[in-house]
Amino acid sequence: MTKRSAAAGLSDANLNAPIGVFDSGVGGLSVLREIHSQLPEEDLIYVADSGNAPYGERDAGFIEQRTETIARLLLNAGVKAIVVACNTATVVAIGKLRSWCPVPVVAIEPAIKPAAQTTKSGVIAVLATRQTLASPNVARLCAAYGNAVDIRLQACPRLVEQVEKAELESTKTRALLEGYLLPLLAAGADTFVLGCTHYPFLTGLIREITGSHAVIIDPATAVAKEVVRRLADNRVRQPPQRPVSIRFFSSADSTGASAVISALWGYSVTVEPLNQPALKCRP
Ligand code: DGL
Repeated sequence: MTKRSAAAGLSDANLNAPIGVFDSGVGGLSVLREIHSQLPEEDLIYVADSGNAPYGERDAGFIEQRTETIARLLLNAGVKAIVVACNTATVVAIGKLRSWCPVPVVAIEPAIKPAAQTTKSGVIAVLATRQTLASPNVARLCAAYGNAVDIRLQACPRLVEQVEKAELESTKTRALLEGYLLPLLAAGADTFVLGCTHYPFLTGLIREITGSHAVIIDPATAVAKEVVRRLADNRVRQPPQRPVSIRFFSSADSTGASAVISALWGYSVTVEPLNQPALKCRP
């Protein structure tokens, strides 16, 4: 065991271990695809807690409890790192999770800093769940980067449900997005932060509504870079050239989840039920 990996509770045997990624539902697939793109040699386990989505309207205690339950399932399955691919779970539960979790935890929060540095109009919009926007994390980011910039916080209820149904271009989804985006455009917003991992799947529609001049910021690339850095720091990056396994689990009905996850992931995958025996069994 190297000195650095020992500090993180990892051993050289962890080289072959998968990375666990989870979200309240299917939104974290937008982060998973970036991790897979930057770390194509790593095994991945994705957990969609779709049976309990959306988290954005839940109370903090429930989200903390689900975060701990899923993290423990992933640890029992032997993961070498956990990625919380959910802004809502991050702002509510990340402190507690990091206090006990023995492997590196990478999380996600709205990209307010890069948006404030990008805007030309001086108005940025942060699209996220109510829980995320009401959090101290977002208050801290607004205080740090909101001096010279007008930051509009826009809760987007019901969008998560549309993505959970893979309704990425329906009339209803468009109407919801127009309701959220048109007032922001009228207020001069030129930079839009996707502060919920479900929203990158709506980028096509968002772009149609905002026009091509708008900047849309998805933090998934930055999160994947952080995963790369943390694995390198802990010396547990998998060497290349071997078959890779990506497994998908959902707390919702597996048949429905398979159809939705396949549609969003881009090819047909089998989704397994979220329970310890299934997770522990190697493919
Ligand atoms: N993908 C989650 C996020 O990033 C959605 C939360 C929810 O389920 O409301 O916040």
